[in-house]
Amino acid sequence: MENPFWEKTYSDLSVATFGKNPANDIVRISSSLKKGMTVLDIGCGEGRNSIYLAGLGHKVDAFDISEAGINKLKRIAEGNKVEVNAWVQDLTTFKFSRTYDLIISHGVFHLVEKHDWQRIIIDMKDNTNHGGLNIVGIFTNKLPATPDNAPFTKALFEEGELKELYADWNIIEFNAYVFEDEHPGGIRHNHAANNIIAMKR
Ligand SMILES: C[S@@+](CC[C@H](N)C(=O)[O-])C[C@H]1O[C@@H](n2cnc3c(N)ncnc32)[C@H](O)[C@@H]1O
Repeated sequence: MENPFWEKTYSDLSVATFGKNPANDIVRISSSLKKGMTVLDIGCGEGRNSIYLAGLGHKVDAFDISEAGINKLKRIAEGNKVEVNAWVQDLTTFKFSRTYDLIISHGVFHLVEKHDWQRIIIDMKDNTNHGGLNIVGIFTNKLPATPDNAPFTKALFEEGELKELYADWNIIEFNAYVFEDEHPGGIRHNHAANNIIAMKR
């Protein structure tokens, strides 16, 4: 199987694979975050969200299965003079060794099997400090996987399933939407997405 499209641009510092800016929900919540929060970014890619949060003074850990992604994150962070503790790690074998104030994951869980994302979400919730947050963005099966993602997509969520997984937390935001997307060198396509910002009681 060919490498996913992002591997090519993770090796190219001149392009931003998933956009230059952090995800909208991360920007929206950032002004209400306490200072110096401990953060974990699961499937951080080249680090648009990790680097942004580290730049705001938070203590960010981040991992991704892609070595090229982690290398690029480290180079961009260094260039921006921010510190992110980033490492190569498969989320399906990740074991928490500490807790966090904020755990984020954007556009990652469709790339692993359902039992793996069910397990990591339980672990994320267990390893979030009380009053802490999870911010998760996933793709749903309201639309089929896009051609560039289909070979790597293992398990899309059902609409609303993400919200049910956080039924015992305070839901600060839940959004279900379809958005148009395009990556460097790729074609325009639509994703059906659900995003949640939830706080542990
Ligand atoms: C669509 S990208 C999103 C990257 C980043 N979260 C962002 O929003 O810019 C999906 C990322 O998930 C990573 N990924 C895929 N399978 C993974 C796994 N089993 N463990 C950790 N990361 C994984 C890929 O390498 C890729 O960087």
